[in-house]
Amino acid sequence: MSIIEKALNKSKSESGGDNSSTSSRPIEKIINQNVSTEPAANTHIDRTSKPSHAMACCDIDLERLDQIGIITPGSERTRFKEEYRLIKRPLLNRAFEERKNRNGKHNNVIMITSATPGEGKTFTSISLAISIADEQNRRVLLIDADVVNPSVAKTFGVSEDVGLVDYLSGDFGDISELLCQTNVEDLSFLQAGKRHHLTTELLASKQMAQLIDELSRRYPDRVIILDSPPLMHTSEASVLAGLAGQVVLVVAENSAKQSDVKKAIARLGNRRDIGLILNKSRSSSNRYGYYYGYGADRE
Ligand SMILES: Nc1ncnc2c1ncn2[C@@H]1O[C@H](COP(=O)(O)OP(=O)(O)O)[C@@H](O)[C@H]1O
Ligand SMILES: [Mg+2]
Repeated sequence: MSIIEKALNKSKSESGGDNSSTSSRPIEKIINQNVSTEPAANTHIDRTSKPSHAMACCDIDLERLDQIGIITPGSERTRFKEEYRLIKRPLLNRAFEERKNRNGKHNNVIMITSATPGEGKTFTSISLAISIADEQNRRVLLIDADVVNPSVAKTFGVSEDVGLVDYLSGDFGDISELLCQTNVEDLSFLQAGKRHHLTTELLASKQMAQLIDELSRRYPDRVIILDSPPLMHTSEASVLAGLAGQVVLVVAENSAKQSDVKKAIARLGNRRDIGLILNKSRSSSNRYGYYYGYGADRE
C-alpha cells in the first residue's frame, strides 16, 4: 500500500471536520523598502558568495509564529522540530543530489499545495522554510505563490506589499527590488503582490518560468518554497506544479475528503514525485502528525 493510500485511509472519509480558525491579529510590522542589491535576472551572478548587502528587510514576528505553533529558530518544541527534520531530509536530498526531476525541473523548487483551502499549506511552507534555513550552508527563498489568497505576510505579522504579481505584470523590471531578507538568517521572502484578474495567465507566462528557473540557479545552496493555492479550487496550482521540481501535498487529517485528495493528485498529472504531509493529526499528543513519502513511487 502506498503511503498516500495509508494516509488517505487515515484521513476521515468524506467528512466536514476541522475548520481551524485563521488568525485575525492586526498587522504590526512594516517592510522597509530599502534598495536591494541581489543581482537582477540576466546579470552576472556570483554563485559562490552570499549577498554582502542589506536587502529590503522583513521583520517576522517570531513570537507570534511560536504562538501559532510554527517552527521558529529558537523554538524548544523538539518533537515538532524532529518531525520537520524527517520531512525536509528527502526533499533536500532530491534538491541537492538529484538536482533535476525527470521533466528537467529544478528539485530545489518545492511547491507546497493541498486539495482544498485551510489544510495547512502556509503553516507547512513557513515551518519548512525556517527548518531548512536552520541547516548549515542552506538558504531559503519563500515565495507566497498563493496569489489568490496570500497569507504569508499576515502570518509573519508584516504589511502586505508588492511582490510576484507586480513583477509578472511588468510593474518592476528587477525582481531584486521585491525580495526581502527576513530576520531569520538565510531566509528571504517574496510577497504575492497585488490581486490580479489574470493570475493563471501570469503564472503560466514565459516570464514566470524564466523567473523560477533563474531564481533556482542563482545560488547553488538555495531552496525555493512556493506556498501555493489549493488544487481543487483554482487553476493556478496546476500551472505552478509544472514549474516545481518537487511537490508536497498537505492533507489535513480530520477534514480532507479522500475523493478531493485523489482528484488533487490527478490534477498534478502523472508525476511520481509527490510528497505527502498528513497535517493536523489529533492522534498524537501534540496535534502534529506527519507522514511523508514519495507515495507514487511505492505503489
Ligand atoms: N499543524 C498545525 N498545527 C496547528 N495549527 C495549524 C497546523 N496546520 C495549520 N494550522 C492552522 O490552521 C489554519 C489554516 O492553515 P493554513 O496554513 O493557513 O492553511 P492553507 O494555507 O492551506 O489555507 C491556520 O490558522 C493555521 O495556523
Ligand atoms: Mg495559505
